[in-house]
Amino acid sequence: MEDIVSLCKRRGFIFPGSEVYGGLAGTWDYGPLGLLLKRNLENGFYKTFVDGREDMYAVDASIIMNPKVWEASGHVATFADPLIEDTVNHKRHRLDHLLEDAGIDVKGLTLAKMQALVKEKGLKSPDGNPLGEARMFNMMFSTHVGPVTDDSSVAYLRPETAQGIFTNYKNIVDTIYPDLPFGIAQVGKAFRNEISPRDFVFRSREFNQMEIEYFCDPKDWEILFEAWVADYHAWLESLGLPREKTHDLEVPDEDRAHYSKRTIDIEFDYPVGRKELMGIAYRTDFDLMNIQKASGRNMEYIDKHSKAKLVPHVIEPSIGTERLIMAVLCSAYAEEGEGEDKRVVLKLPEELAPYKFCVSPLLKNKPELVEKAREVFNLLKQKYGFVTWDDNGNIGKRYRRQDEIGTPKCVVVDFETLEDGTVTVRDRDTMEQVRVEVANL
Ligand code: GAP
Repeated sequence: MEDIVSLCKRRGFIFPGSEVYGGLAGTWDYGPLGLLLKRNLENGFYKTFVDGREDMYAVDASIIMNPKVWEASGHVATFADPLIEDTVNHKRHRLDHLLEDAGIDVKGLTLAKMQALVKEKGLKSPDGNPLGEARMFNMMFSTHVGPVTDDSSVAYLRPETAQGIFTNYKNIVDTIYPDLPFGIAQVGKAFRNEISPRDFVFRSREFNQMEIEYFCDPKDWEILFEAWVADYHAWLESLGLPREKTHDLEVPDEDRAHYSKRTIDIEFDYPVGRKELMGIAYRTDFDLMNIQKASGRNMEYIDKHSKAKLVPHVIEPSIGTERLIMAVLCSAYAEEGEGEDKRVVLKLPEELAPYKFCVSPLLKNKPELVEKAREVFNLLKQKYGFVTWDDNGNIGKRYRRQDEIGTPKCVVVDFETLEDGTVTVRDRDTMEQVRVEVANL
């Protein structure tokens, strides 16, 4: 994990947020290469699950929503994690994580049971001090909307993008008239005031989600649920995650979110352990019924053909971009060779690689080579966009630099190019080199 975190920083993928001021826990900034990777992933999500299908639509809703949204959704009352305080230095910790770190399985444990275990096992804080009383801590970030900062102006930054979809369900039904089943996707920021952010971007306070709410007739939910699980496994594999490293966890009743009747978490074997990458939940009609009750607006769907009315049920595949980026990087990262020949290589699928090509002149002090290489660069840049230029150091070093950021092909213009119009194309994974005519690149 440390190698990957260090590569991310060294090569401009991900930096600690506000680093110049000592950082801000749980926040991360994307550098140029990280942003390209993130865009490629999110574009791939749209391509696979929205553009590639006939039953999917996408929205981009506000991050700050009417606080009634979070009252109706149950987040104000229940979106909380167990917190416990060090009685000496008053640092706050996530109680379930402390227990887990002490080797205790916390699945299904109530707050009271966890507190009892602290006493029973004589558990201390990470600084070795006694721990106080445990309590639940709501994870929503609050702010005030408008110039008055009292209780009437409180609003929350969304802790999930899902509610931006549910609150627009009726707008979409009334403007697009989709047939059931249909889905609405949203990609965007979510915020959670995590008690203890950790494991690089895995648990951040500001992160991105790619979520789908798939509206269906309740009689079809089981088949559709299985289909979504299969579709996501296929997508994850296409992103380079080995199937043997992803695992379906049937989340037991006592551990499911308040809105779910069935959840499968797809876990991934990260270097820091097997952890939740994403979840697929059967949210029933929980959200639409709550909105109907709280807003007084009818959430029924009227079938165009039979005129039958129903409040659709929902299957929700939800994945965090950061957790996916971590899984993609961990799957792609390899160290190969020894001594002088040692290289670090990111074997990213081509569609995810920040740059598709690197173009170089063999020697940077030969103007005729540089001019020709510029021509090739412009040609590829026009066609593919994601192309980089590197004329620093010797060719071997350039290859190593590009391997480390996952560039699939390096194109080198040399003296032969000037004679016969061919360039060397070097493959990242096999390291094989072939001569290709510029016109056929
Ligand atoms: N709308 C459902 C929902 O938000 P969730 O399991 O709380 O469900 C969905 O979150 C996904 O969002 C997770 O599976 C994970 O990929 C990502 N996620 C959640 N909390 C996160 C955090 N603090 N940092 C990074 N990603 C997070």
